[in-house]
Amino acid sequence: MKVTVFGVGYVGLVQAAVMAEVGHDVCCVDVDSAKVEDLNRGLVPIYEPGLEPMVKQNHAEGRLQFTTDAAQGVAHGEVQFIAVGTPPDEDGSADLKYVLAVARTVAQHMDKPRVIVNKSTVPVGTADKVTQAVATTLVERGADIPFQVVSNPEFLKEGAAISDCMRPDRIVIGSSDADAIATMRELYEPFNRQQDRTVVMDVRSAELTKYAANCMLATKISFMNEMANLAEKLGADIEAVRKGIGSDPRIGYHFIYPGCGYGGSCFPKDVQALIRTADGIEHDAQILKAVERVNDNQKSVLMRNIQRHFGDRLKGKTLALWGLAFKPNTDDMREAPSRVLLEALWQAGARVQAFDPEAMEETQRIFGQRDDLVLMGTKEAALHGADALVICTEWQAFRAPDFELIKSELAEPVIFDGRNLYDPDRVAGRGFDYYAIGRGL
Ligand code: UGA
Repeated sequence: MKVTVFGVGYVGLVQAAVMAEVGHDVCCVDVDSAKVEDLNRGLVPIYEPGLEPMVKQNHAEGRLQFTTDAAQGVAHGEVQFIAVGTPPDEDGSADLKYVLAVARTVAQHMDKPRVIVNKSTVPVGTADKVTQAVATTLVERGADIPFQVVSNPEFLKEGAAISDCMRPDRIVIGSSDADAIATMRELYEPFNRQQDRTVVMDVRSAELTKYAANCMLATKISFMNEMANLAEKLGADIEAVRKGIGSDPRIGYHFIYPGCGYGGSCFPKDVQALIRTADGIEHDAQILKAVERVNDNQKSVLMRNIQRHFGDRLKGKTLALWGLAFKPNTDDMREAPSRVLLEALWQAGARVQAFDPEAMEETQRIFGQRDDLVLMGTKEAALHGADALVICTEWQAFRAPDFELIKSELAEPVIFDGRNLYDPDRVAGRGFDYYAIGRGL
């Protein structure tokens, strides 16, 4: 099938790559000409395991093209994906200006029937707005061409995006039009070979499904962080509690890891956007507000532990920081807990020697050159001359470190662990002060 994807950000690029990989003929359109040029030269602007080779190969074989020419894109695909950004407005609600601009662009250029698909995470009611924008533009043109707007939310996880897309656990199709549903089924058929994972529903339910999924996951995390804080004060161990509750299949082991707060481009934005949507219909989203509050508070947990340990001795200290990205296997720093920690440490007059396997360039780009942040080439180098070690991200490479080396490099044998990577008894047995999350043993 011929498919067009507007927006080669994270979601758009991954979606385009996997569709080309299964044999569809995909044209990507983006307004950013530098990005389009890079992609045409095989340079992939984001780090995602497996993405670059997939983009290069499909581009070389002619199934994946990149252009800034919207007219070419609209002429190409019978299905037109909208995968542009929906940045939060000042009040936290999703800003639809890019989505609606693409809708108008498609309407401006289309001369055949088109299925227009919302892939961006958009508030309930957006498909209606897109329909309106396309219809109005067609009337202005004096054109009478049939079209359908479908909601098809994305559920990929950064770091596992390719496998999530190649082997989706569900494909949500929001539409009430039989022909549009048939087109979407055909498009996704290659991903559905083993078992049909398509869930067809009305468009508003599909839009809400996306938010409900992310908000449920964010709720699980905030709930566990609240339990962790309780466990700490009650002299209990959240890791034992986690295993104890996870064994109940109704609860499950997934997404109940306490930590230093959730980050990334999805959970914080989507929780906030659904709160705003609820506000707009005079519904007080009490659980979601609490989820957000708990998470904001949790992002300071490492700093609170650091202050507990150092008291007023923090000024002038150097902290080794392992992990900057909001989670492993990505270079994404958006809403990362490490950023809250860095700002708090600088505020307190401490300096940081940081290492992350992928997010160093991004950190440099965000913070630029400053005396109180030194980016080190290895996790060992980050320890050199530091007073203590702090861990923000659970990269595999941090799971079994050389504790003797850590001890010999640090001025004080103390570890602040935001991800509960180690066994407290073993670390204490090696002579460390070990501050973890919710382990009030
Ligand atoms: C999230 C969802 O998991 C995807 O299903 C969804 O498609 C995506 O948002 C999206 O809307 O595009 P992502 O933001 O890539 O994916 O990252 P996650 O793996 O979900 O992690 C989010 C945050 O939660 C991370 O900061 C992670 O450290 C934290 N987390 C996760 C915990 O603190 N505890 C856990 O048990 C799990």
